[in-house]
Amino acid sequence: RQPTDSPLYALLTAASDYYRHALKQHPTRKAAVEYLKGRGLTGEIARDFALGFAPPGWDNLLKHMGGDSLQQKHMIDAGLLIENADTGKRYDRFRDRVMFPIRDSRGRIIAFGGRVLGDDKPKYLNSPETPVFHKGQELYGLFEARKHNRNLDEIMVVEGYMDVIALAQQGLRNAVATLGTATSEEHIRRLFRLVPNILFCFDGDQAGRKAAWRALEATLPGLEDGRRARFLFLPEGEDPDSLVRKEGTDAFRARITQHAQPLADYFFQQLTQEADPTSLEGKAHLATLAAPLIERIPGANLKVLMRQRLAEITGLNGEALGQFARSAAPSV
Ligand code: GTP
Ligand code: MN
Ligand code: MN
Ligand code: MN
Ligand code: MN
Repeated sequence: RQPTDSPLYALLTAASDYYRHALKQHPTRKAAVEYLKGRGLTGEIARDFALGFAPPGWDNLLKHMGGDSLQQKHMIDAGLLIENADTGKRYDRFRDRVMFPIRDSRGRIIAFGGRVLGDDKPKYLNSPETPVFHKGQELYGLFEARKHNRNLDEIMVVEGYMDVIALAQQGLRNAVATLGTATSEEHIRRLFRLVPNILFCFDGDQAGRKAAWRALEATLPGLEDGRRARFLFLPEGEDPDSLVRKEGTDAFRARITQHAQPLADYFFQQLTQEADPTSLEGKAHLATLAAPLIERIPGANLKVLMRQRLAEITGLNGEALGQFARSAAPSV
């Protein structure tokens, strides 16, 4: 899918080396080190994820890499430099940020995320789409998770870089994050090629709950029988990073065991909140919402069981539900 011989890979690796080195040596590194320590990270986990630091200033990386005009052009293509459209002046994209290298499934660095050390905006800056980086397909932490265990049974999908890293530091080394985009069908195809089980664990806030429903919709076409998705909803205001630090690994694992909700349960719980199943009008609306979504499931057994469940809730028989299913799927 991606050009294997792109000159961008070597530049991205060199940039990552520079950022890692800067976190260890640069005169301005202290604030970044303090920031990472303040978030509870150890040096070991920082090394595992190759964290770095882009020092403050407009041309640290540019100067470090030197290079001729062609190399600078490639650095622009790689998302490392920005060229001012009016003046033609080139400068570093990432400045005064903690750097998270993003790897593809083969371990090649293809992009970066960079976080400000304080409360400035934007909080995270990601590499743009480039010839080697397609946001809707990549999952942060997937290479690291698979490196740790080639035979994972379940992968946890979370929202953020720091969620992946905090969980890994606490021994939960199977988390990946989408890169500031919604979970896509492409993400799900990738994951189900590697593992039979997916656990979604998004932030305990409105955005996280919305992300969960979108993840459910993206998951439906991947649900062959034998594949399973679950959802763990976190207390309001918590994300996996904050919660696993607060309650520790064992409690977090217990929370998964006790509270992770099978996709079908979440599906009906959500839709029965949307449409009141105690009135006939509500039942009709529920069927309109649910039936087309159920039809997207390829797994014959799960599809039949969910149809039956919908029939129980609404009192409609299968034939009537089939008619709903043929209408376009509305989004909730
Ligand atoms: P921390 O404050 O570092 O713990 O971040 P977080 O991961 O908890 O961030 P949040 O829950 O606000 O957002 C989840 C994910 O969305 C982040 O990890 C980023 O990938 C992405 N994101 C958040 N803020 C921004 C932003 O300002 N710009 C972009 N491009 N992405 C963002
Ligand atoms: Mn491509
Ligand atoms: Mn959030
Ligand atoms: Mn967070
Ligand atoms: Mn968060």
